[in-house]
Amino acid sequence: MEAIKTGPRADPASRAAEPARKVFVKTYGCQMNVYDSQRMTDALAADGYAPTQRIDEADLVLLNTCHIREKAAEKVYSELGRIREMKRERQLVGRDMTVGIAGCVAQAEGREILRRAPVVDLVIGPQTYHRLPDALRRVRSGEKVVETDYAIEDKFEHLPQPGRAEIIRRGVTAFLSVQEGCDKFCTFCVVPYTRGAEVSRPVAQIVAEAERLAGAGVREITLLGQNVNAWHGAGPDGREWGLGRLLFRLAEIPGVARLRYTTSHPRDMDDALIAAHRDLAALMPYLHLPVQSGSDRILKAMNRRHRADDYLRLVEQIRGARSDIAMSGDFIVGFPGETEADFEATLGLVREVGYAQAFSFKYSPRPGTPGADMQGHLGEGVKDERLQRLQSLLSAQQQDFTTSRVGMRFDVLVEKPGRLPAQLAGRSPWLQPVILDETAGEIGDIIPVRIARSEGTTLFADAA
Ligand code: 5AD
Ligand code: SF4
Repeated sequence: MEAIKTGPRADPASRAAEPARKVFVKTYGCQMNVYDSQRMTDALAADGYAPTQRIDEADLVLLNTCHIREKAAEKVYSELGRIREMKRERQLVGRDMTVGIAGCVAQAEGREILRRAPVVDLVIGPQTYHRLPDALRRVRSGEKVVETDYAIEDKFEHLPQPGRAEIIRRGVTAFLSVQEGCDKFCTFCVVPYTRGAEVSRPVAQIVAEAERLAGAGVREITLLGQNVNAWHGAGPDGREWGLGRLLFRLAEIPGVARLRYTTSHPRDMDDALIAAHRDLAALMPYLHLPVQSGSDRILKAMNRRHRADDYLRLVEQIRGARSDIAMSGDFIVGFPGETEADFEATLGLVREVGYAQAFSFKYSPRPGTPGADMQGHLGEGVKDERLQRLQSLLSAQQQDFTTSRVGMRFDVLVEKPGRLPAQLAGRSPWLQPVILDETAGEIGDIIPVRIARSEGTTLFADAA
């Protein structure tokens, strides 16, 4: 893409006299979007944009969007209504505001966004964030820009990296993207269309990023991917590595004390990865393993390519490797054709597994996915009622899991100051928030604690 320099703001001489341009980024949806928002912020920092938390003082507003359920896209359009008003007010006092839409709504809707929301100047899909500075130069020269190519290898190659100061500011836990896209084509899901085919990032790039994070004080790294356990790549030993082997390599990096990964598909949970849960102390005992439904008929219609029993056997195998693992999952209620008996099979599966945490959703037909064209769509009333029943079971399980930690001793990674004075906040191995006394240690320390009590889903450690 051509880099066009126009206008006074693109001129470095006059830019020096101006205050730094400011960017406000709002992130919707999954952790991959949180990671991508950070990478966009990093790319823009190199281009003279300072991040701001205040939308009204932003020269550039970026909405990093999610398309997974209908409401997510609608929220973006209503936010754009508010932004239009804000842009108008800024223009009245002689300041402009550039508005960009990134993420999966950008990828899915493309040019349609410009038609529905003329306030938007730039539409940029998840695979092209490294081209953001160039795209903004084109916007400043008066163009409306739509960048929605799939060039994922290119993205991995050119991922902007944060400076050391920025890593430190972001804290002692970090995300690291190792895989993007999905080839599974579950019939309800837009991801294979918005994020494209499954692509793994090369080992050397992942190790280099992890070393940079650890070198700046990061203690816990969460590997990200839409299908993270499908990650594979050529190892430096000339062998094909899977995620299990990669985790062992990352655990060797000095300073890396804790590793996590998300989100996984049951079909890609191989023996080496399960063995890592047994043998690798740095791998935390928490696994997000979506099943979506407990009914074989619905799982088939969803094209999940596993049965409820396969999932239950897998959970048993994983617990055989690591008995204290906390299971987490995703569920969809009200998929087309779901009967009361199908739904009850989901409740049965939930009872059998016992989840420490879970996310559950009403089915939302996504245009272009096979599910949207299926027979037997259910009414909102039925979906609401099933969601409520499922959620009350899941939250009771979460509560049980939380209270079962009271009286236990384990290590907590201290992440940040607590909300109240004299407190620190950290996480248990099972990802639960833990509040400690400030005398317990420093941010970044891993401290053995005893849990005195719980409140909601938060644990409180005994005073040191
Ligand atoms: N309707 C409802 N929930 C969905 N999810 C994905 N697509 C849909 C949809 N069309 C849920 C799944 C997935 C999670 C990220 O979002 O449970 O695992
Ligand atoms: Fe979507 Fe299924 Fe791929 Fe997960 S595995 S991203 S639910 S298509």
